Amino acid sequence: MAQESRERSDALVFFGATGDLAYKKIFPALLSLTKRGKLEMPIVGVAKSGWNLDQLVARAHESIAAQGPVDEETFAKLKSRLRYVDGDYNDPATFVQLKKEMGDAKRPIHYLAIPPSMFPTVVSRLAEVHATDHARVVVEKPFGRDLDSARELNAVLQKHFPESCIFRIDHYLGKEAVQNILYFRFANAFMEPILNRNYVENVQITMSESFGVKGRGKFYDETGVIRDVIQNHLLQVVSYLAMEAPSSTIPEAIRDEQAKVLRTIRPMSVENMVRGQFKGYRDEPGVAKDSYMATYAALRMFVDSWRWEGVPFIVRAGKSLAMTCTEVMVEFKNPPQVVFNEAAPPMGNYFRFRVSPNVTLALGARIKVPGDRNVGEPVELAVAQSPAQGQEGRMGDYERLLSDAMSGDATLFARQDVVEAAWAIVDPVIKGPSPMYDYEPGTWGPVEADRLVADVGGWNTPKA
Ligand code: BG6
Repeated sequence: MAQESRERSDALVFFGATGDLAYKKIFPALLSLTKRGKLEMPIVGVAKSGWNLDQLVARAHESIAAQGPVDEETFAKLKSRLRYVDGDYNDPATFVQLKKEMGDAKRPIHYLAIPPSMFPTVVSRLAEVHATDHARVVVEKPFGRDLDSARELNAVLQKHFPESCIFRIDHYLGKEAVQNILYFRFANAFMEPILNRNYVENVQITMSESFGVKGRGKFYDETGVIRDVIQNHLLQVVSYLAMEAPSSTIPEAIRDEQAKVLRTIRPMSVENMVRGQFKGYRDEPGVAKDSYMATYAALRMFVDSWRWEGVPFIVRAGKSLAMTCTEVMVEFKNPPQVVFNEAAPPMGNYFRFRVSPNVTLALGARIKVPGDRNVGEPVELAVAQSPAQGQEGRMGDYERLLSDAMSGDATLFARQDVVEAAWAIVDPVIKGPSPMYDYEPGTWGPVEADRLVADVGGWNTPKA
């Protein structure tokens, strides 16, 4: 059985070493960790591709080069620690070899960058060679396909790892800007008194992507937008925005508050959701010709808590939309119009948090136009932090998360009860039938979604 401890892991094993995730995210993170001196341990890639170590090294180099000039000195260090095991996950010999490559590691961390259907096999084979003893495990989202399967998946992991040693990656939690939502809320005295049903009109969160499924048609067609980004990334953002203040003196306080607030969100109903599919999606490789999977969804949620009762939280996400941007808009109610007798402004006061591609924290206010009349205009007071990540001194999301997992800090990972609370919200609408509307690529999605914001003055759409 693994132990609860903050001792650093002493070997990193990653399954799916020849796959897409390793290429896009893991190798670059490994290089950065090596540069920071945080990866002085065996790094063992495992896959079933008929490859050898030289091929894996070449792949790692290619993956890092795809992101910019390679720091060859650091890469040489990474290369010297890299091992590779090629074999079938069903074959016990693969795991005997793996154990050998781990050397005398006593606290390994296993990163399962493989389909969840393989988890039971891999985890039990690891246990057979005692590679789960005092070990940690890292898994990727989505955690299951719905509430029931998430529970099953968890039971598989918890057979060999205690919850404190299970690290469920939701890379949104590793983003600087997402952490800044939490920081900005609770580090500023002016925020908390107004962030509630007395002052807030509505909250809108948009995650738009101008690209389509980028060669991931098969994965996407089994997943769809709600499972891909809403159940996880966007509900994590909602929880940071809506939760009560966590106390730093209580371990697990942040995740406790996340779980609590998610449990107060009403399970979704079809009436409060609009789904869409971009035209041309069905022609993508790997997508069924008659696919009914949503590439866009807008959900109007209600948080039944003392703080938020009656305030709509409207979340929308989609592929092939007008721009790539994730943004939170907290719109405040208008003050009474008795002093200046102006028409109520459509967008008076707001907070805007742009999470990506660049980071902006902004406050929307009204000021008087110079002149002899008391007429106002909207202005925005904004702080932009750029570039978002990967700068010298700043950690990229995967680098930060892997580093935390290796030292046993699970704060930025999705705890099982948080995952389950999030599934409980979307479960009713991912299973049942609901209308699907086409939309043109490059637009803001189906116009039918406008009904979800009709009573709050329409969409607060991100500006280019
Ligand atoms: C991933 C989804 O989790 O997040 C993708 O599977 C999505 O579909 C991606 O494009 C967005 O993350 P980021 O960090 O690129 O904004």
